[in-house]
Amino acid sequence: MEMTMNANVAWAASAPVCLSAPRRVEEFISVSSFDRPTLVLDIDAVETQYHALKAGLGEAAIHYAVKANPTREIVERLVASGSHFDAASRGEIELCLGLGARPEHISFGNTVKKVSDIAFAHAAGITLFAADAEEELEKIAEHAPGAEVYIRILIEESQADWPLSRKFGCGGDEAIRLMGVARDLGLAPVGISFHVGSQTRDPAMWCTPLDAVSRIWQRARAAGFALDLLNIGGGFPAFYGEDIPAPTTYATEVMRHVHARFGAVGRIMAEPGRGLVAEAGAIACEVLLTSKKREDDLVRWVYLDIGKFSGLAETMDEAIRYQFVTPHDGEATSACILAGPSCDSADVLYEKRPVQLPVGLRAGDKVIIRNCGAYTSSYSSVGFNGFPPLEVMCI
Ligand SMILES: Cc1ncc(COP(=O)(O)O)c(C=O)c1O
Repeated sequence: MEMTMNANVAWAASAPVCLSAPRRVEEFISVSSFDRPTLVLDIDAVETQYHALKAGLGEAAIHYAVKANPTREIVERLVASGSHFDAASRGEIELCLGLGARPEHISFGNTVKKVSDIAFAHAAGITLFAADAEEELEKIAEHAPGAEVYIRILIEESQADWPLSRKFGCGGDEAIRLMGVARDLGLAPVGISFHVGSQTRDPAMWCTPLDAVSRIWQRARAAGFALDLLNIGGGFPAFYGEDIPAPTTYATEVMRHVHARFGAVGRIMAEPGRGLVAEAGAIACEVLLTSKKREDDLVRWVYLDIGKFSGLAETMDEAIRYQFVTPHDGEATSACILAGPSCDSADVLYEKRPVQLPVGLRAGDKVIIRNCGAYTSSYSSVGFNGFPPLEVMCI
């Protein structure tokens, strides 16, 4: 999943770039001790990021993608900040409602829903649902009659580090057909959604998907569908070591690309997950073992007490490359294969591209994993191999 830089790098010339993470969580971890791997979250940092993104997104409503991190304190603070929410299940809807979100501010954005969840959402007052298939529309029509639906478009040319292509969305012809199906079923086909892919580092990477989606939007309107809702999804990046624009700059650029193609749209919504919460968190963990398989091996193995099943699932295919802070930083480094603690050979984090870590790193050393606030605690297993799920604490 190599990134190709597009020609349009307007932001790069003048914009501030996020070169480092907020340090408050890291300072807290440095002076604290932990019995087990712990995600420390700075809730003020989430609020600051919300306002920074909102400043660039302008009239677009932010629907926080709760799946990125459903920690109660995050949702509570975002409710207080005026955020809306993108929920994937009944559980996330209940969480948001229970913490004060209004039902009209929650969209049910999963295109694959249980009918009992649809019925629950409808009874709770939620009126906006995603779909990308006829059967899904039938379920919504039966269990949330009269609801507003937006059709998710398949994005095949994602340049994201964590693309979401293939599984979600449908092609343009099918989208327009589904709008007709929705109308016939008594639903209100109000718009279109898409997702450029998670961790889309450069706003210029939105241009190709936006071109494709705007063509479908125009065709749908020409076919008589009075669309007024454009859902631009997530994709807003976090800093994992490679330069990205600051959040307001990034969001401003995205909206510039949106307006250039869509002009005035009635309602625009964005669903940042990673870009809103990742940089607000860091994980405290520990080295369990360093070893070599043979004395003359050039590459060492470093085993942490956190792995793929306990929070670092996004190391799958080595797609998301986290940054590590150790007590030996500044000393000589060597190439290391990084692995988790479970008795499962799939629990290897980085091997194809080993990580440079200090030669002096030893069992018992505390390691901080930077910018881990998204897709870590929400991905950690309940107790694979008897390891508890990732502990979360807020400062
Ligand atoms: C429907 C939907 N919206 C938003 C998001 C959030 O994406 P990101 O974390 O890249 O902002 C996701 C992530 O899977 C999603 O499925």
